[in-house]
Amino acid sequence: MKIAIDINRLQREIDTLSLITEAVPPVVTRVLFSESDLRGRAFVKKLCREVGLVLREDAVGNIFARWEGANKKLPAVATGSHIDAIPNAGKYDGVVGVLGAIEAMRALKNSGFQPQRSIELIIFTAEEPTRFGLGCLGSRLLGGVLPPKKAASLRDRDGKNLDYWRQRGGAKGKLDSVRLPKNCHAAFVELHIEQGPILEREKISIGIVEKIAAPSTLRLQLTGVGGHAGATLMPGRRDALLAGAEIALAVENIVTTSGSRDTVGTTGIFKIEPGAVNSVPCQAYLEIDLRDTNLISRDASLRRIEFEAKRICSRRKIGLKLERLNQDPPAICDATLVRTISDVCLAQKISCRKMISRAYHDSLFMAQVCPTTMIFIPCYKGYSHRPDEFSSPAQIEKGVRVLAETLAKLSGI
Ligand code: GLV
Ligand code: MN
Ligand code: MN
Repeated sequence: MKIAIDINRLQREIDTLSLITEAVPPVVTRVLFSESDLRGRAFVKKLCREVGLVLREDAVGNIFARWEGANKKLPAVATGSHIDAIPNAGKYDGVVGVLGAIEAMRALKNSGFQPQRSIELIIFTAEEPTRFGLGCLGSRLLGGVLPPKKAASLRDRDGKNLDYWRQRGGAKGKLDSVRLPKNCHAAFVELHIEQGPILEREKISIGIVEKIAAPSTLRLQLTGVGGHAGATLMPGRRDALLAGAEIALAVENIVTTSGSRDTVGTTGIFKIEPGAVNSVPCQAYLEIDLRDTNLISRDASLRRIEFEAKRICSRRKIGLKLERLNQDPPAICDATLVRTISDVCLAQKISCRKMISRAYHDSLFMAQVCPTTMIFIPCYKGYSHRPDEFSSPAQIEKGVRVLAETLAKLSGI
C-alpha cells in the first residue's frame, strides 16, 4: 500500500486556519468558544465532511469525526488534538494533530485502504486553560477525571460559566453524557509538535512519547489596601503587587532548588487593580503553573509554594485566597503502542527516539480511556506558545506519514 501525503494541501490548510484568529496575523489567538474558535471549528468540520467522515459533537463541544470501519463492533482507533490557541500563540500547536490527522485519513482513503476498526478523529474542547484556568477540559470529561458538577461550576474571569459558553458554542446535552465508556476505543495516538528542542538538536524526525509530565495550577487572589500613591507614606502600606512579586520570586527559588531537574514553575498571570500609576495596588491576581515528571517532587514544590505564599501575605498583612485548580499525576504511555510506532518508523526508514512530554496534552487524560501515546515532530528551536513557532513541511509530512501508517496498522486488524 503506497500512502501519498499531500503536504502542500495540508500546509495551505494550516495557513488558512492560522488566519482565523482574534489577533493580527501571524499571531494566533483562539480562545474556547470565541468567535474565532467557532469559525475554526466550522472550517475543520467542513474539511471532515469533504473527506466523508461522520460528525458528532458532545455536550462540551468535543467533535468526533469517524471513518466507519468494516467491523463496527470493534472498538475504534482514535487520533486528534485541539485547535484552540492561547493568546499570542503560533499556528502549529494542536493544529498539526487535527489537520494532520485529516490528511492522514484522506491519504489512506486515496490509497484504497479500508479499515476494519473505525478510525475516529477527536477535536478536543479547550486543551488550553485560557478561558476557565483549567486545561484539557474536553478530555478531562471524556476520561472521567473531572466530575461534571465541578465542570459546571467553572467560571471565567467575567463570571460566565461553562453552560453560558457551551450554549453559545452550540453544544447540547448534559455534561454527564460526555464520559467515554472504557471499551469504545482500542487506542489513542496524538500527533503534535515537540514544543521542546531535543528532536531538532539531535536531528531526529520523530519522538515517541513514553510519559507525560504532571501539571498543576494554583490561583491566588491577594487583597491589600489601596490609596493615593503620593499621600500614603511607605510605613504601613499593604501593597498587593509587592506581595505577589515576592511570591513569584519564591516560585522561581523553590523550583530551582527542588532537587529535580524537571521541576518548572511559571507565574504566567499577574494582574493588579486598580492599575493606575498613582494608586497603591489593592488587588493582585496570580496563576502559577507548576510541573514535574516526578509526582513526589512536584507535590513537594506545590506545598512549599503554598507555604511561602501564606507566609509572605501574613507578613505583609495581605488577604490571600488560594485555590488548587488542578493537580494531575503524570501519564504513562502504552508500551505496545510505542513499539508499534517505532516499528512503523523503522519500516519507513524514518529516524525516531523515545521521549518524555514536558507539555501536557489531551493524551494525558485519554490515557484513562484506552492505551495512548503521542508522535512528536521537531519544531524550530523548540519554540511554542509564541507566534514564531515553526515546523517545516518536510517535518510535518513525516509526522503525518507515521500517523497514517500507525492508524492503518492499528485499524487493519
Ligand atoms: C499545553 O498547552 C501546555 O501548557 O502544556
Ligand atoms: Mn498549547
Ligand atoms: Mn497542544
